[in-house]
Amino acid sequence: MNAKDNLKNANFTLTDNRSGDTYDLPVLSGSVGPDVIDVRRLYAETDCFTYDPGYTSTGSCESKITYIDGEQGVLLYRGYPIDQLAENSDFMEVCYLLLYGELPTGEQKVQFEKGVTYHTMLNEQLNYFFRGFRRDAHPMAVMCGTVGALSAFYHDSLDISDPKHRMVASYRLIAKMPTIAAMAYKFSIGAPFMYPRNNLKYAENFLYMMFSNPCEDYEVNPILSKAMDRILILHADHEQNASTSTVRLAGSSGANPFACISAGIASLWGPAHGGANEAVLNMLEEIEHPKNITKFVEKAKDKDDPFRLMGFGHRVYKNFDPRAKVMHQTCHEVLGELGITNEPLLDIAVELERLALEDDYFVEKKLYPNVDFYSGIIFKAMGIPTSLFTVLFAVARTVGWVAQWNEMVEDPSQKIGRPRQLYTGETTREFVPLGQR
Ligand code: SDX
Repeated sequence: MNAKDNLKNANFTLTDNRSGDTYDLPVLSGSVGPDVIDVRRLYAETDCFTYDPGYTSTGSCESKITYIDGEQGVLLYRGYPIDQLAENSDFMEVCYLLLYGELPTGEQKVQFEKGVTYHTMLNEQLNYFFRGFRRDAHPMAVMCGTVGALSAFYHDSLDISDPKHRMVASYRLIAKMPTIAAMAYKFSIGAPFMYPRNNLKYAENFLYMMFSNPCEDYEVNPILSKAMDRILILHADHEQNASTSTVRLAGSSGANPFACISAGIASLWGPAHGGANEAVLNMLEEIEHPKNITKFVEKAKDKDDPFRLMGFGHRVYKNFDPRAKVMHQTCHEVLGELGITNEPLLDIAVELERLALEDDYFVEKKLYPNVDFYSGIIFKAMGIPTSLFTVLFAVARTVGWVAQWNEMVEDPSQKIGRPRQLYTGETTREFVPLGQR
């Protein structure tokens, strides 16, 4: 069902106080969630723009992929609740669901996994690409550069008007992100790159490429690969967040998929977005002991202090982020499996969550833990360096980015994204020659 076909159209009347004219703007309804005021005719009819920095009240597109109910703390991938998918599905099945809109049959899943598995290797030339970076380069810088460079190698999947090209590029991106991430890690520690193994599942393959070496056999801990698979599911897509909107905007100009995903990686890097998982761990380490928590909570509440409680708050969720609940449970499972009974950072995180959720400031502003609050503790327990946390977020979110990018390219009403502005600068004035200034 498209919103445009919806019978439940009411009219929204805008009264122009200068002229007294009124304008009718249609209201569109989706299958669930807030109605939208269709302002596409607004400028033509009223000579006015809407004004919404940060897009707090703006819908940028029609989508059928992911839905969030921020008040209820609900997240649906193609209608399926995230907690049910985390409990009963796996990342490859979720990738199929996000890309094609339905859960796969057994045979469809086998074929999809095979298609992804056989794209996990990189063109061998790319190995030399890594050597151009400093060893201490942030791995997100490596991801931005290397993913964008994929368009220099895979010329047979750049024609965005060709559905086959789009799907091949989507498979390649989903398949190669873990390989590039693991190579960025190996390069940073001066260790040899490990090739993906076609007999391993996606998350297992990633951990194999991260932690194995050519000198001995390496068995991935099945509890850790299951936890990693679940974490990938939790991060796979999330409506029109900053990085997905970046991918859509880049794609709206007709840029190739590898360049668009590289743009998404760049946007995700920010500490207000995907960079928060790295910032949370740094914050917990800075707090150092539960006795210091109150000081940091007070800093977070101080309007004059730029410090924010990382891993807390969300533009959409005004209740618990459902992903944070699953992440918290996974945290205890992984630490338990690894026999880590005393993780000071977890103790600090649990106490910080308790104190914040009892504090009027956080209660009134509806600030709850988000997906990033516990993920770093799990990654640290798995032996993943802090600088790689956001890279893992990018690995998981790639399927969401490519699903949203495909939906944007296939949308017949799609146009190049080109926002306007409220201009408050100088009006026209005459040039002043240097000698007269
Ligand atoms: C992700 O959009 C997505 O879906 C993103 C994501 C995804 O899956 O793609 O969910 C992933 O990015 C999760 C968010 C990770 N970021 C962090 O954990 C960083 C810390 N959080 C904040 O920076 C903030 O909460 C944001 C950026 C997440 C949301 O910011 P908004 O929606 O712009 O809200 P805001 O800045 O207007 O805050 C509202 C009020 C403000 O106070 P007032 O000006 O009203 O007095 O709440 C305060 C803020 O100062 N506030 C916080 C806070 N978050 C908001 N105060 C202290 N600590 C915080 N973490």
